[in-house]
Amino acid sequence: MKKTLLTLLAAALALVAAAQPQLRKDNIEEVLKAMTLQEKATLLVGGARAAMVNGVTSGVDWNVPGAAGNTRPIERLGIPGTVLADGPAGLRIQPTRQGTSDTFYCTGFPVGTLLASSWDLSLVEDVTRAMGNEVLEYGVDVLLAPGMNIHRNPLCGRNFEYFSEDPLLSGKMAAAYVKGIQSNGVGTSIKHYALNNQETNRNENDAIVSQRALREIYLKNFEIAVKEAEPWTVMSSYNKLNGEYTQQKEGLLTTVLRDEWGYKGIVMTDWGNKAGTVKSAKAGNDLMEPGNQNEIDRIIAGVQDGTISQEELDRNVRNMLNYIVRTPRFNGYKFSNKPDLKAHAAVARKAAGEAIVLLRNQNGALPLKGNEKVALYGISAIDFVAGGTGSGDVNKAYVVNMEDAMTGAGFTLDKGLADYYKAYVDYDKAQTALAGTTFSWFSRRKLAEIPIPANAIANEARANDVAVVVLGRNAGEGADRKQIDDFELTGVERELLRDVSTAFRAAGKKVIVVLNVGGVIETASWKNMVDAIVLPWSPGQEGANAVADVLTGKVNPSGKLPMTFPVNFMDHPSSANFPYNYSQGGGNMGGFSWGPRQPQKDVDYTNYEEGIWVGYRHFATRGVEVSYPFGFGLSYTSFAYSKPVVKAEKDGFTATVTVTNNGAVAGKEVVELYVSAPAGGLEKPACELKAFAKTRDLKPGESQTLTMKVSAYELASFNEAASAWEAAAGNYTVSFGASVADIRCTAPFKLAKAQSWQVHNTLAPEVK
Ligand code: BGC
Repeated sequence: MKKTLLTLLAAALALVAAAQPQLRKDNIEEVLKAMTLQEKATLLVGGARAAMVNGVTSGVDWNVPGAAGNTRPIERLGIPGTVLADGPAGLRIQPTRQGTSDTFYCTGFPVGTLLASSWDLSLVEDVTRAMGNEVLEYGVDVLLAPGMNIHRNPLCGRNFEYFSEDPLLSGKMAAAYVKGIQSNGVGTSIKHYALNNQETNRNENDAIVSQRALREIYLKNFEIAVKEAEPWTVMSSYNKLNGEYTQQKEGLLTTVLRDEWGYKGIVMTDWGNKAGTVKSAKAGNDLMEPGNQNEIDRIIAGVQDGTISQEELDRNVRNMLNYIVRTPRFNGYKFSNKPDLKAHAAVARKAAGEAIVLLRNQNGALPLKGNEKVALYGISAIDFVAGGTGSGDVNKAYVVNMEDAMTGAGFTLDKGLADYYKAYVDYDKAQTALAGTTFSWFSRRKLAEIPIPANAIANEARANDVAVVVLGRNAGEGADRKQIDDFELTGVERELLRDVSTAFRAAGKKVIVVLNVGGVIETASWKNMVDAIVLPWSPGQEGANAVADVLTGKVNPSGKLPMTFPVNFMDHPSSANFPYNYSQGGGNMGGFSWGPRQPQKDVDYTNYEEGIWVGYRHFATRGVEVSYPFGFGLSYTSFAYSKPVVKAEKDGFTATVTVTNNGAVAGKEVVELYVSAPAGGLEKPACELKAFAKTRDLKPGESQTLTMKVSAYELASFNEAASAWEAAAGNYTVSFGASVADIRCTAPFKLAKAQSWQVHNTLAPEVK
């Protein structure tokens, strides 16, 4: 009797075990079968988000405090929760925790725009390998990065997170970024897919874009990153595209991303709950973030009433399970909470130095000797802008400012001036603290540049050897920049530059400007007043040291612009359809009135009337004068290009060019390969970037031959009428440039036979 009972019990247990398989890499189908509808819906929705208090979450076990979100565990089946945290200039988690004196700071690396300015894929991989190590060692599974929307307009508030106005450069940078992070066995989330090109009303804005511009400009970079680097996750954007939310657009999330590009990972929403949860899930958006109970309920109801099929549900759950078995959480990785922050700070400094762009250097004004007496102007010299605000802001242990960096490099700073700025910045910070508004998720620096009387400047010109003026801007999530007092200089900044230039030039002394900015600013009206302009963007916690390295010549700058610096804001065709004059507001918009209203241009919808004529495609083709062209950047040495050779291959061509350092100091050169297509067929830009390469550090007199490959597919343009990519037969010109406006040599390439690649006709704008 006893024996029979035991046998029965064992059989019952076996049954339960069969119904409760524990997740392994090789039993995903079995686990899927064992899941209840409730469990499946739960897995598709992130953990409930606690109330956000000034960007700090509280009241929920996030596993890793300060992480942006998670996926929910299903313990019965051995499915762990996983942790997702921002990105992209480093890992964003809370630096301190209750009950311990340990700290959890992360490295503030250079922002995406500075990484892109390096034009150096291995440098980007070095940076993100270090960054990914922090993700792993702090117990996070996915870094919500890189941000990779195209710089459609200079004023997008998040351009600093993004790479470039050019899809090839952006795509290659993103691929390198993803590879570096994922080499640690943690995931990335390329974002925001797609068309999140403005922050104003980003939650509701409808981007109305032609299929050609979509395919060639706004999706091409995602296509490159997906195909080359296989990110674990993709984040759909908040906005609409051609009438539908991107997170609910099947053509975008399934037809293009998965069917055409072969994407195998998961898609998650950007952080917000939209009513159409079921539509999102159906469209191929696997995970709702940050997630709430409503969304679980909606999915369950959707399955029950047949709005979403069992197969569609299982497809998403399967994607989730495939994601989970890759994570360190699932694999039981024992994270240390002790990444090597010192080593990573060194990586950040080196990368920033190599990526800084030298825009102007009249009569070899730079490098300085390193022991000069310096009059250092600008509040950003003290209140250095290491990165942007919002989710892309890293909680770093420190930020080196220009004052410390310059002193550390051996310069002697004008003490009166330094004390004056410091007192002003400290006073302002104290006032802000008193007002109780020390930090808000979306807040930007309110501090305005302070006037310095001209007679004081005249004294400083007498007492010092050189003037360094730091112009700062900080931008961030939730609001776009403005044309006035942001793209353009403020009145006080103009006066400062004018007075410093007048006084120092009269004394025969140099004026150097450092642009510590998050996005493009106006330079044409004032650049002739100064001798040198150094552009470090927002270069991370060690960035000021990197600037000092460039000023002293310890590092020879080799960065180049990943976008155009126009003469006027309105020279960008996209400016005609961009919300450039809304006053800054918090949240997801910029200062217009809520409530019922007529659909408002550039707020509720934005017409991408410029089509493919974004950035240099417009300026170079139409001969519009710019302040600094795409791809531009100076060096302390000079380079000669020779022996351009283009060899036809079975697929496309291989190009080689020899670069010789014919100057006096060692340096690196970026070579940009542009292609001009044969006439006839689709209207094309005068030239398009199709490849690039960077030399190693070449000593004076040394040469290196660079090799670049371009496939026929990469030559193709999108023909909307045929829904096909088409590479026309005929004679192409391959140009090797130091910038788009400085072509050094060319070689011909002949595509013998036209080629085309049919794709789905799926993303057309709604006819309204
Ligand atoms: C941002 C994302 C970010 C997410 C989580 C959103 O507001 O748009 O880029 O990853 O928040 O913090």
